[in-house]
Amino acid sequence: MNDNIALRAENIYKVFGRRSAEVVKKLQAGQSREELSNLGTAAVIDASFDVRRGEIFVVMGLSGSGKSTLIRMLNGLLPASSGHVRIGDTDLAEVSDKDLRLLRQQNVSMVFQHFALMPHRTVLDNAAFALEVQGVERADRENRAAKVLDKVGLGGWGEKYPSQLSGGMKQRVGLARALAAETDILLMDEAFSALDPLIRREMQEQLLSLQQELGKTIIFITHDLNEAMLLGDRIAMMHDGRIVQIGTPDEILTKPASHYVEQFVQDVDRSRVLTAEAVMDSSAADLESASASDTATVKGDTLLSDIFSLSAANERPLAVVDSEDHVIGALGHETLLAALGGSNPGHPLNAIEAEQRDLQASEPAGTGHRADVGREGDQPVDSDGADAPGAAISKPEGGTR
Ligand SMILES: Nc1ncnc2c1ncn2[C@@H]1O[C@H](COP(=O)(O)OP(=O)(O)O)[C@@H](O)[C@H]1O
Ligand SMILES: [Mg+2]
Repeated sequence: MNDNIALRAENIYKVFGRRSAEVVKKLQAGQSREELSNLGTAAVIDASFDVRRGEIFVVMGLSGSGKSTLIRMLNGLLPASSGHVRIGDTDLAEVSDKDLRLLRQQNVSMVFQHFALMPHRTVLDNAAFALEVQGVERADRENRAAKVLDKVGLGGWGEKYPSQLSGGMKQRVGLARALAAETDILLMDEAFSALDPLIRREMQEQLLSLQQELGKTIIFITHDLNEAMLLGDRIAMMHDGRIVQIGTPDEILTKPASHYVEQFVQDVDRSRVLTAEAVMDSSAADLESASASDTATVKGDTLLSDIFSLSAANERPLAVVDSEDHVIGALGHETLLAALGGSNPGHPLNAIEAEQRDLQASEPAGTGHRADVGREGDQPVDSDGADAPGAAISKPEGGTR
């Protein structure tokens, strides 16, 4: 496996139920999970992806779409029904239980939604737990745990007990425990989903700044699209057990692979995800007029939210430039507005896709009913409800922006 890849999933399936092998075969032969539901629950179907070293790879989907099952296969807590998970040169299906435990101690740690702290241990002892399991002697592990507690903003709290902490602080301890283990890979399953919106936002910012410093490989699961867009270098969108698209936040927004993804993302604050480069026009004529010497410029990686005032102050399109100040495109008022409104007709790919969608739209619609879903909060969505993408933007936490 290429050195830049920290973890690889190859066509992995997880079917719950005694007849899992049979269900996998039938899925591979083209039957749907609904047809097979009396034989077993197909929680993850044919998932393949690479997670690159040092990236935050977000897995995003509604409740019940298979995210937790997927992440548990990535550290061997659940064996895959079919397919391979590779971490470095290790195929998880081929190692003993003992080696799997070692791998979880040394290579892959996990942060849980509900913290999973031990109530009778101090914060310091909780943070040091993974090191204790690794057999690190006391003085050393306490020293290391204290340093990590400092990093997550809990310096001085080591002697307290979990019951004395707020939710946000508890999750900082959960994060400290995972970081103290010094594994390269960090799995986070809805790690911030139980927190209040402001605290949650703080934790997201902190994770991003810690990541700048630590450069871990992080697989982060969430059902909150804004969180996915904020944290993810790339996002895998899950729907009914399948990964339906993998892409950067930009790509997911501007080139949704399906109607489902498109509906899913339509409530996102696009101005905080899209960059000038993602939406600019770049025809020869656009480039030429943008190259005039008196044109106001903006860097390609600038978020649209930071461009409004400049755009408003300039009648002519802005010139979009790369890091070496070469003009790579033009951004006029109309293009900017169209991007915010969710369409970017100037983008050739979008034009083609819009055409395809128009064709598809003449077929009977499968989904719909956005208006009255998504207010139930973080309830598991059963297979009937899971089809309503509007629920994706359920805002039990009041949203994160
Ligand atoms: N241990 C299990 N036994 C049977 N079914 C399960 C088990 N764990 C999860 N499932 C089912 O698998 C599907 C995916 O669940 P899960 O991975 O928890 O989704 P998510 O984390 O996206 O909410 C759901 O239909 C769930 O009911
Ligand atoms: Mg889950």
